[in-house]
Amino acid sequence: MGMITLSSSQEAEVKMSEIGSILVAPSILSADFANLASELKRAEDGGADWIHVDVMDGHFVPNLTIGPPVVRAIRQQTSLPLDCHLMIENADLYLDDFAKAGANHVIVHAEACTHLQRTLSHIRQLGMKSGVALNPATVPDALSYVLDVTDLVLVMTVNPGFGGQKFIDSVVPKIRAIRNMLDEAGRKDARVCVDGGINEETARLVVQAGATVLVAGKSVYGAPDVAQAIRSLKSSVAVSNI
Ligand code: DX5
Ligand code: ZN
Repeated sequence: MGMITLSSSQEAEVKMSEIGSILVAPSILSADFANLASELKRAEDGGADWIHVDVMDGHFVPNLTIGPPVVRAIRQQTSLPLDCHLMIENADLYLDDFAKAGANHVIVHAEACTHLQRTLSHIRQLGMKSGVALNPATVPDALSYVLDVTDLVLVMTVNPGFGGQKFIDSVVPKIRAIRNMLDEAGRKDARVCVDGGINEETARLVVQAGATVLVAGKSVYGAPDVAQAIRSLKSSVAVSNI
């Protein structure tokens, strides 16, 4: 990065423009697990903003993936923020481990957390951004009493568990409802992220509805050119991002 000195008002402008921008978070669930270092580099060199890490326990979702030791290994290979999506029960037991492993964001499922407010507060106390994921069938009201302790909302546009599933259109209005809830609660700084079946076509729909982070597995790592896939996602929403 160049040595540019910014005045405090310029810094404020940078922050505003960053909030207004659309971020792409490739999901390594669709990457080649045997070559994670080079897969991370492909994403980072290709303009990825965050790396999305799907953690599954075989209970909350019918699939098993990775845990803190792999997050620790990934941390050594990229400087991008690690966006850890916990599709697990008993998330509280593992929050310290994810923090120590170098996670930047920890997102828990509202459906899997009995004491959601406490869990989110704990994530923040550990110095990470807190996130809540909502399954397609979960109502936005699940967030009503935790808006003040939530930095990210991950709206699932597939039922979680697997990459490469079809986008569920009926979830789109929920994105707008959540964006409005956050704004009305004075949380314009909190981002709405979308996960599942995101491609150039569905990206437009979710960005128009208020999402500013696109998690994408198959459409990025399933493409022959990762950098081109990330560029295509960003340019597909460029018109709606005004
Ligand atoms: C699904 C995961 C997603 C998944 C998205 O349970 O949470 O992050 O990797 O993959 P695509 O973009 O292929 O639907
Ligand atoms: Zn995910």
